[in-house]
Amino acid sequence: MSHNQFDKKSEAWSALFSEPMSELVKRYTASVSFDQRLWQADIAGSLAHAEMLQAQDIISSTDLADIQKGLAQVTVEIESGVFEWKLDLEDVHLNIEARLTQLVGDAGKRLHTGRSRNDQVATDVRLWLRGEIDLVIELLAQLQKSLVDTAEKHVDVILPGFTHLQVAQPVSFGHHLLAYVEMFARDSERLADVRRRTNHLPLGAAALAGTSYPLDRERVARSLGMVDAQGRACVCQNSLDAVSDRDFAIEFGAAASICMVHISRLSEELILWMSQNFGFIKIADRFTTGSSIMPQKKNPDVPELARGKTGRVVGHLMGLLTLMKGQPLAYNKDNQEDKEPLFDTVDTLKDTLRIFSEMVGGQVNPATGQKEGGISVNPDAMERAALKGYATATDLADYLVKKGLPFRDAHETVARAVKAAISHGVDLSELPLAVMQQFNAQIEKDVYHVLSLRGSLNERNILGGTAPAQVRAQIQRHKTRLG
Ligand code: ARG
Repeated sequence: MSHNQFDKKSEAWSALFSEPMSELVKRYTASVSFDQRLWQADIAGSLAHAEMLQAQDIISSTDLADIQKGLAQVTVEIESGVFEWKLDLEDVHLNIEARLTQLVGDAGKRLHTGRSRNDQVATDVRLWLRGEIDLVIELLAQLQKSLVDTAEKHVDVILPGFTHLQVAQPVSFGHHLLAYVEMFARDSERLADVRRRTNHLPLGAAALAGTSYPLDRERVARSLGMVDAQGRACVCQNSLDAVSDRDFAIEFGAAASICMVHISRLSEELILWMSQNFGFIKIADRFTTGSSIMPQKKNPDVPELARGKTGRVVGHLMGLLTLMKGQPLAYNKDNQEDKEPLFDTVDTLKDTLRIFSEMVGGQVNPATGQKEGGISVNPDAMERAALKGYATATDLADYLVKKGLPFRDAHETVARAVKAAISHGVDLSELPLAVMQQFNAQIEKDVYHVLSLRGSLNERNILGGTAPAQVRAQIQRHKTRLG
């Protein structure tokens, strides 16, 4: 072993080992190719740990100063791309520690006092994920704003609401978009909740049993911002649990999966709506691609890929759950496999949310300050579709109920009226009054008001309903909430 550092991971613990690792085993066991993205969290954790070691008189102030100087240098090297990541040093932790020791000597070797890579990696992943959750929550807010702005432009646009993908009742397009705002608002709440449990400190658990050094774990937690809403330090209370469980990653994977499922449902609708058969909307060309053989095609690649990537994120959740299920306490190397699914989940989710905000709401044109290039709507196509499927039949039934008919009888009467309309090839609103009155003598001229799409919408003026007045109230609520 060279005087000041170790060059191979075996040198970090080596005396016991009598043969070197084969290249294959090295590659199989190493994580540095992917866990190097935890470097900022790793350095933040080390700085907090070192400061505390000094405050507790476990290391000297000179050692602390050397560690701080060395880690500042490591930061510069990593940021500028000159840091040499070595497969021989297995992971991000050993790579950084070895370089630190090379730079500052013995102080670097004292950094690991009272610490193990087991509590170190658990801390790093939690710190990293906490930051990513904050970014995802911000992106979710942007997507919600895009949807709310688009909804506001289209409160009075009517499209058929479907059940079983059969025309059911007319709804406001704004109302339809706000349904997704509700979903993404819940996704955001779920993530805030996951963040609370993620933001707990494992350091101090050491390898699995705690440590004999008088560490001040709460101090470390506070300096890393691992505090609750009241400012109290959040520290993992059981060392075995602290180093071994990855439930916070699983929870994140679940919240991300639910969010992607919401995205996927929206994607499916966008794909349907922009098909020739619907012709309800267009999305900007930059989110579509052409076909190499069929010159007329514009394919909705972005929503299709988002729908496809949902499978990948849900798959990562399954991977994380399965990774955990057979593990006895405490740390096992299995846990190294938590990183790639977690990283890919974060990357996929963030890119998807970004691209959807832009695809739905458009992008700010710096010249005008206005957003451009969002979803464009064909209100006529939507209305024509809503007029096709006898979407106001329920309104006729409700009209008869208001005249005193029991609902079940009204339902039956309307079924007969619809049958007659179908056989004449007309909409309910096109049946002459005299014909209507054959079904029920109490029907009067005002029936045509409820049979119109707009009349139908206005009637649903109840909290959560599709009447434009309600939709406008919801838009205001969301705007206030989203700021
Ligand atoms: N690279 C490891 C991981 O990601 C760090 C912890 C290693 N601990 C150990 N005892 N081998 O889990």
